[in-house]
Amino acid sequence: LHASTHSQTIAFIGAGNMASALIQGLIRQGSAAGNLLVADIDTDKLQSLAHDYGIRPASEDEIAAEAEIIVLAVKPQVMESVCASLGEKINQAGRQPLIISVAAGITLASLDQWLGGNAALVRCMPNTPALIGKGASGLYANARVDTMQRQASSAIMEAVGLSVWVEKETDLDAVTAVSGSGPAYFFLFMEAMQDAARDMGLEADLARSLVLQTAMGAAELAAQSKEELAELRRRVTSPGGTTEQAIKSFQADKLEAIVAKALQAARRRSEELAAQGSD
Ligand SMILES: NC(=O)c1ccc[n+]([C@@H]2O[C@H](COP(=O)([O-])OP(=O)(O)OC[C@H]3O[C@@H](n4cnc5c(N)ncnc54)[C@H](OP(=O)(O)O)[C@@H]3O)[C@@H](O)[C@H]2O)c1
Repeated sequence: LHASTHSQTIAFIGAGNMASALIQGLIRQGSAAGNLLVADIDTDKLQSLAHDYGIRPASEDEIAAEAEIIVLAVKPQVMESVCASLGEKINQAGRQPLIISVAAGITLASLDQWLGGNAALVRCMPNTPALIGKGASGLYANARVDTMQRQASSAIMEAVGLSVWVEKETDLDAVTAVSGSGPAYFFLFMEAMQDAARDMGLEADLARSLVLQTAMGAAELAAQSKEELAELRRRVTSPGGTTEQAIKSFQADKLEAIVAKALQAARRRSEELAAQGSD
């Protein structure tokens, strides 16, 4: 974690899955619990999260008055009302904290408008493996975000995995199609392998274990290697061997085209949702 991010007051609005994951990650990486604030309309959830990590439950007023960084971790449907009330409080307090939104499909233009029009804003697209510290997030900042704030944003998202900056906001639609929705594609592929293994007579538990271990092993092997994915694949694919038969079958069925078409469909939907949210 970037040294300066340790000592900043970071507040979370919405004490749900994503906020819990980030809070856990930040504490694991050395942030002092005393520097973390959290607000939620559900007081039970708020108290239990605050208690679990020793962080301070706070009101929106306190957050508007104190926080240097505010992470908006509520569902997209309630983002407008959260931003409107928070924006008013921040503007009254005459402050300009960094605001990071992790909500899928909500554009910087919408956030900025709802917050009152002069916020330093980062839009982030995380994915669910963030919940176990293995997330992949794409980030994009508006022009009011300075270098220190960019570093702080990266540091926060890196507490739950990989984080990368994209060059333009619309690239987040591609990030959504690749890593945002991506875990489900791998689940689907693993399901299909598991079903095929069972059809071949393997026990369900055994099929599941073999598939999961193979997926993890392949991802780790690729992550640790400097080789291209295609080269790693070729190494498993001996001429005349078993793998070659499967790869030929996938290629005859145009797996690459199937995957490309699916990702395009996800990106189109992400663009549509962003357009709807900005109406
Ligand atoms: N989970 C992921 O891995 C993931 C991945 C990508 C993006 N995201 C984004 O992350 C955001 C949060 O997702 P999540 O899974 O963490 O959702 P979640 O578990 O539902 O957490 C949201 C929390 O915010 C609370 N809340 C609702 N209205 C509020 C308000 N006005 N003020 C304060 N708190 C309020 C909710 O309370 P109630 O339950 O009582 O409504 C809930 O506790 C979403 O925008 C989502 O698009 C999440």
